[in-house]
Amino acid sequence: MAVTAGGASNDVPPNIAAFLDTPTPDRWLDAATSRLPDLLLDHANCELKAASTAMGFLYRYPERTALAQRMSHLAREELRHFEQVRGIMAELDIPFRRLGASRYAGALRDEVRDREPYKLLDMLLVGALIEARSCERFARIAPRLPETLGRFYSGLLASEARHFEHYVAFAHRECGLGRDDVERRLTALKAVEAVLITDPDPEFRFHSGPPADQTPADSSNRQS
Ligand SMILES: [Fe+2]
Ligand SMILES: [Fe+2]
Repeated sequence: MAVTAGGASNDVPPNIAAFLDTPTPDRWLDAATSRLPDLLLDHANCELKAASTAMGFLYRYPERTALAQRMSHLAREELRHFEQVRGIMAELDIPFRRLGASRYAGALRDEVRDREPYKLLDMLLVGALIEARSCERFARIAPRLPETLGRFYSGLLASEARHFEHYVAFAHRECGLGRDDVERRLTALKAVEAVLITDPDPEFRFHSGPPADQTPADSSNRQS
């Protein structure tokens, strides 16, 4: 059960709350609320990268029919989200520009092993973590946003939660590895992800840690 550091309940879907051991620090939410243009710009970039990641699976594993079909669908959905965020940015006169990889994405990508089937497993689990974290952040920040944007973010919850479920299911089905192997790897990747979203981050992004220019991360914000 995910709760905020202050103990307030939130609308994070139960499957996502059960999956993520560490909630987003409130200080990231404070920063995001005060930096909406930066949030939207990085969000648009994230949707584009999510589509590109899904297409990467299509190119790398075309013979895996179920995976390829699902990733094709997922890529289209992410591109639709990208279009929607771009539309909101245009309404708010926020120019789009391409952003490079964030600390979060880069560090998780560095965890992906080279040898199969571990490469596929790691890519799927990293995908699950990113989708779950996106979903959690949409849920946590939506109530703090202007009404139209908050409604849009709340509307993204269901699809990102679904994407998370697909990534997890494929991790168990497609790699030919036992449940214990998958869970062990997931535990290790969750620990890496938890550090990335709780350690002070010099750059504000959709998946960044709390701002580095404030007090150090509050370790009480982590769940045990
Ligand atoms: Fe998306
Ligand atoms: Fe997604």
